[in-house]
Amino acid sequence: MNNVMDFLSNIPWWGWVLIGLTLVAIRDVFFQKSHTISHNFPVIGHLRYWLESIGPEMRQYFVANNREELPFNRIERGWIYASAKKENNYEGFGTDRDIYEHQHMFINNAMMPFQIGKDHPNTIDKTFLPCAKVIGAFNKRKKPFRPASVINVSAMSFGSLSAKAVESLNKGIKIADAYHNTGEGGLSPYHSHGGDVVFHFGTGYFGVRAEDGGFSMEKMKQLVKENPFIRAIEVKLSQGAKPGKGGVLPGAKITKEIATIRGVEAGKDVLSPPNHKAFSNVPEMVDFIERIAEATGLPVGIKAAIGKLEQWEELADIMLKTGKGPDFITVDGGEGGTGAAPPSFADHVSLPWVYGFGNLYKLFKYKGLSERIVFIGSGKLGFPAKAAMAFAMGIDCINVAREAMMSIGCIQAQVCHTNRCPSGVATQSKWLQNGIDPTLKSERLAQYFKTFKKELVEITHAAGYEHPCQFKMNDIEINVDDYNLSKELDRTFMYKKTPVPFISMQNLKDCLYLGGNYNKTQTD
Ligand SMILES: Cc1cc2nc3c(=O)[nH]c(=O)nc-3n(C[C@H](O)[C@H](O)[C@H](O)COP(=O)(O)O)c2cc1C
Repeated sequence: MNNVMDFLSNIPWWGWVLIGLTLVAIRDVFFQKSHTISHNFPVIGHLRYWLESIGPEMRQYFVANNREELPFNRIERGWIYASAKKENNYEGFGTDRDIYEHQHMFINNAMMPFQIGKDHPNTIDKTFLPCAKVIGAFNKRKKPFRPASVINVSAMSFGSLSAKAVESLNKGIKIADAYHNTGEGGLSPYHSHGGDVVFHFGTGYFGVRAEDGGFSMEKMKQLVKENPFIRAIEVKLSQGAKPGKGGVLPGAKITKEIATIRGVEAGKDVLSPPNHKAFSNVPEMVDFIERIAEATGLPVGIKAAIGKLEQWEELADIMLKTGKGPDFITVDGGEGGTGAAPPSFADHVSLPWVYGFGNLYKLFKYKGLSERIVFIGSGKLGFPAKAAMAFAMGIDCINVAREAMMSIGCIQAQVCHTNRCPSGVATQSKWLQNGIDPTLKSERLAQYFKTFKKELVEITHAAGYEHPCQFKMNDIEINVDDYNLSKELDRTFMYKKTPVPFISMQNLKDCLYLGGNYNKTQTD
């Protein structure tokens, strides 16, 4: 025995390395069957898998140029990070964009900017920028709602995001007077710090789910009664990254807490089918919306990615005929994000935001319905100039998902579907999310929203307007090659926007239905 120990202790360090590598080589050649490269090139074949796994990080840090990456390039991410931290988010020496490039967008500035007086709401608060329309006003819902911020947190559930991330977003929207859309996973305690909430559900009906997996109106009524900070309800038809694709939430991910919040059994797989059980055609959907609005008193809207228009036309005709229908429509672009989706869906199914929204708005406008609906847009719109373009096309509010995630520390690692998010934002791992300090991160989200609103107000003033709802299609141009070929939006997308009735910022500030922290006494 002593001899063996002596022999082993006399082996030098490089001898151990050699033994280790020999064992790996034996395993590669004789025992593993799944990797041909490792079999054919024992030991060194592993380098390929390792290099492949760190490729995205290497490209992001060293190789890709500032404007190259997708979904968000370095300049875009840097702007969000700097804005969220209230750091210098300017750039020096002029733009590094090729402003003559195809599809580049220009905002036509006025000869002299819009001037605000000393008592103007934006002199007092440069970040005051509420929605110019009241959600639910046309349909005379019992509890109409004017979002107090034009930028808000888009649907992302507790389950796809960590508890600490949801808490940070929720506390942040409260500071920034915005609303927080719950996403499909139900209303969790992390969504309930008192800021405005839009309750969102899809075909899984999580949080308002009956025993048979369908929709429970009783649960819906109770949820709204117990949580007065819920200001509107959004029925999800589809999202840009995976329209028409159902999903399975694996039992392994359903902890006791998630099971209670979603109203499902812990540890058992749960199916979100592609279709709703509560309705199977457009007239039934309108009826469903009306029943929820009647039972809860809240405005009710729908969220969808846009492709074919036939069923939307049917919806518009029903709205015209009956005077009923959704109070708001959230249009998600095909470029939208997700916790997990097959690339074939994310890359190809549904139209990019400008085309999808343009088609839908045009349809509702020509039917004379655009004033009745509050249009909400999502799909990489969390940048002030892009938002100005979206307002010119007819939106009233913006929802942001990934931009909000970045403001609280997401580094675009693009591993939301693996539960290994390094920033702790999109994971259920307790260890990874423990790095998030919700108090600090909520300030970051709030600061990003405030900076966004301040810059959007400044762009609006530069174009000669008081509120971005006043942007018209011909205020924005898109490069289709040389200047003589650049086209204003109305000529590119072939419609003119319906003017939004707007009196003044002061008028919005005085509105009884204004959300956020402005009217707490009236709405509590
Ligand atoms: C992690 C994650 C989870 C999401 N969960 C939902 C969801 O539950 N329901 C939904 O309709 N959209 C969901 N989305 C889509 C977003 O709400 C949003 O529509 C889309 O990402 C476009 O916005 P963005 O470009 O600002 O990210 C999710 C997106 C992400 C990144």
